[in-house]
Amino acid sequence: MKTISDITTLKSVLQEDRRGGASIGFVPTMGYLHEGHQSLMEQARKDNEIVVLSVFVNPLQFGPNEDFETYPRDIERDEKVARAAGVDYIFYPSVEEMYPKKPSISFHVHERAGVLCGTQRPGHFDGVAAVLTKLFNIVQPDRAYFGLKDAQQVAVIESLVEDFNIPVEIVPVKTIREQDGLAKSSRNVYLSEKERDEAPAIFRSLEKAEKAISEGEREAAAIRDIIISEIESNSGGIIDYIEVLSYPDLQPLKEIKGRIIMAAAVKFSRARLIDNKILTV
Ligand code: PAF
Repeated sequence: MKTISDITTLKSVLQEDRRGGASIGFVPTMGYLHEGHQSLMEQARKDNEIVVLSVFVNPLQFGPNEDFETYPRDIERDEKVARAAGVDYIFYPSVEEMYPKKPSISFHVHERAGVLCGTQRPGHFDGVAAVLTKLFNIVQPDRAYFGLKDAQQVAVIESLVEDFNIPVEIVPVKTIREQDGLAKSSRNVYLSEKERDEAPAIFRSLEKAEKAISEGEREAAAIRDIIISEIESNSGGIIDYIEVLSYPDLQPLKEIKGRIIMAAAVKFSRARLIDNKILTV
């Protein structure tokens, strides 16, 4: 495994690999790798001859009051995790390498962005679209891997690739869970013991809603109520949002039909947890 920090070197090694007929799988990350990332790398390893991981904390996707400066970074640890997962190259550029001058063109994601987590992070998906466009052009992967825990990000990326004819296959990878159903997240360590016991209520609430759907419930408001009441009666978490929307368009629904997402965000004292379930009705 090689760690490469400059764009020219990465492009030239990948060009060689491509010439030899190798397919390239790409896992874009902001580092501080956890089991969710590991499952993306494993899937990329299975599907491709070459696996590229990028570790880049992208300033464009952080708002002015967000944690860009303090976002956790540990490249040595990331290198160990990536090596164990069979990554071939880590692309680890500096901010100056990626943005040598103030970009003269910016993206504005105006569909799929203003709901769920997007309501609280104006401009976030604009920054994600910009960095991924650059990364896709630099790496030119056959496939790129993203976790469905952030299903809204997957939906936005699918639009980006479709709107701009970017020649990459987007591979969504299912959420990795603890034994009790809690979605794995680096934020779970911020839960107190009591909150950790309560937090699986989020996933259980989504399962309960799925069961109600399988038994015939079609009213989005009723499904939302099932989720809210399961979380509120089994945890001290404060509900940030519970939404039942079409997927991947993320449009509000009265009656559920077709592919839908049930998404939850719940605040505990030191962690805000998100989870979702996508299903076809
Ligand atoms: O999901 C992330 O870690 C980031 O949003 C991504 C896709 C690497 C873009 O910076």
